[in-house]
Amino acid sequence: MTVHIGAQPGQIAETVLMPGDPYRARWAAETFLEGAELVNEVRGMLGFTGTWRGHRVTIHGSGMGMPSLSIYANELIRDFGAKTLIRIGSCGGMQEKVKIRDVILAMTASTMSTPSSGVFRELNYAPCADYDLLRAAHDAALAKGVGVHAGGIYSSDVFYDERPDLNEQMTRHGILGVEMEAAELYTLAARYGARALAVLTVSDHLITHEALPAEDRERSFGDMVEIALEAAFS
Ligand code: ADE
Repeated sequence: MTVHIGAQPGQIAETVLMPGDPYRARWAAETFLEGAELVNEVRGMLGFTGTWRGHRVTIHGSGMGMPSLSIYANELIRDFGAKTLIRIGSCGGMQEKVKIRDVILAMTASTMSTPSSGVFRELNYAPCADYDLLRAAHDAALAKGVGVHAGGIYSSDVFYDERPDLNEQMTRHGILGVEMEAAELYTLAARYGARALAVLTVSDHLITHEALPAEDRERSFGDMVEIALEAAFS
């Protein structure tokens, strides 16, 4: 047990999928895993371990934002031995070519700050995905016929952004979408020798102002879970 994860030693798998929302963790575990067992519920942050095609997998919520994800990813890697961590979540589209429901695979995650920024000080560290996971996820998305884009994303500290000028600069510089967790996940994975990837469904759009209809959310989320599982065990 750690401060924030009530699992016993051995109850967390080496492969961990991390949705932001703990209820999504429960839905994904019940839908895709066999023999899913609840292994954490401290502060309502649910984690489940089961098997997918015979492979052990944990699906554990990260909460919203880098400070929250940082707590869980630190403990999962350092205390429970997680080796492959895949964020499955939503993002806002920042390019015209990126459509609602498309999947973005984050090659890099730019950010203004993370819980790790004190480590780097004046250095603009470039957090990046594990290439093998990225390539396998791209193959899986193409095989499913899902619209997929691989490129840079922005991990923001705020959802309600007061800097539209900054978003415009990022769009101008090719950033595909905005979310709030991947940069810290990639940084921690690099620090502790784990593999990480963020697989993101475009749920809203900063240019067109469209949003994913509620009835499509489950299917899009399910596609992401399958892409992440196939990438992890390819
Ligand atoms: N996650 C989903 N949409 C987002 C947005 N527009 N900004 C930040 N995080 C998001």
